[in-house]
Amino acid sequence: MKRAAVIGLGDISGTHISAIMNNPGITLAAVCDIDETRQADAPAGIPFYTEYREMLAKERPDAVHICLPHYLHVPVSEAAAEMGVHVFCEKPMALNSREAEQFAAFEESHPDIHMGICLQNRYNNSVEALKALIDSGEYGQVTGTRGLVVWCRPREYYERKPWRGKWATAGGGCMINQSVHTLDLLYFLGGPIASVKGTVSQMLDYDIEVEDTVTARLDYANGAHGLFMATNANYGNESVQVRVRLEKGEFMIMDNTLFRLDADGRWRKLTEDKRLPGAKFYYGSSHEKLIALFYEALENDSGDYLHVRDALMSIRLIDAIQESGRTGKTVRV
Ligand SMILES: NC(=O)c1ccc[n+]([C@@H]2O[C@H](COP(=O)([O-])OP(=O)(O)OC[C@H]3O[C@@H](n4cnc5c(N)ncnc54)[C@H](O)[C@@H]3O)[C@@H](O)[C@H]2O)c1
Repeated sequence: MKRAAVIGLGDISGTHISAIMNNPGITLAAVCDIDETRQADAPAGIPFYTEYREMLAKERPDAVHICLPHYLHVPVSEAAAEMGVHVFCEKPMALNSREAEQFAAFEESHPDIHMGICLQNRYNNSVEALKALIDSGEYGQVTGTRGLVVWCRPREYYERKPWRGKWATAGGGCMINQSVHTLDLLYFLGGPIASVKGTVSQMLDYDIEVEDTVTARLDYANGAHGLFMATNANYGNESVQVRVRLEKGEFMIMDNTLFRLDADGRWRKLTEDKRLPGAKFYYGSSHEKLIALFYEALENDSGDYLHVRDALMSIRLIDAIQESGRTGKTVRV
């Protein structure tokens, strides 16, 4: 039985806490939030702390879940690892490429500590099935990709948690906070990306520093062409759409379902993601799966989960698109 702790009891923490509590191999040892009013929503009878170092020192959990604002991910992950605790950190892995590279170097220099990053959508059934089809070679090389994230974040979303709209605490807007998953999938499914060109803008008149809308062209190393569009300025949250065209076939993930374009021009359903009761469909359903994998890796001392180094490219892509948006130039990734 592995003992888990959670730092940060905000919006996403419930998803981690249920994944821990539903897993017979994990027990929730303690939780922590700097805001003591958060204790009211924590599971009853679980020790609550307002200082995470004190919690880690006293409770000695095997692993800690980092569910904190972005600027705290790397410092708190590293502090926990230095205390000998394995780390499962929410996305994004870092605020920017510089910090991401530093975190990846830290991971490399601490081989005894497991550090997982929660880019859970790689583990959706639809994504795993599409990745297997691409890797099989049956359909030839990838020639094109497209990722669409058409979401809505009302003014209140930023007002309620002011860290979200600021460069220093969030590291950006709709890319690093919402569509980082989709950018990661365009890389994971499409392969290495050599350069990008994008526009980065604010469509909403909110009092925030960061972008709410982005479009970008992705130039894959093999010559494939990618298109990425993300916005928080829609009237609602639509299903994320990912399309991949190969030399001998075309696939689409939409409504958490994988489709193939058949010769008759119709989309044929291949597989569907698991739906988690109560979870927001647009988060993706695989927190539980990735968390279970991470703890199996702790049990077996294996490396089968998403490492810090695996998440690096998602941050490099975001930085490159931000730079392209500022300069108007194509930027190497
Ligand atoms: N993987 C996903 O699909 C997904 C979905 C939503 C959010 N997230 C990520 O989860 C993380 C948290 O997001 P959220 O929306 O839950 O944020 P939130 O603001 O709702 O929660 C953060 C919590 O951390 C607490 N906190 C701040 N500083 C602290 C400290 N020093 N020690 C202890 N507690 C502290 C705050 O009081 C707050 O309760 C972010 O990285 C976000 O991007 C991931």
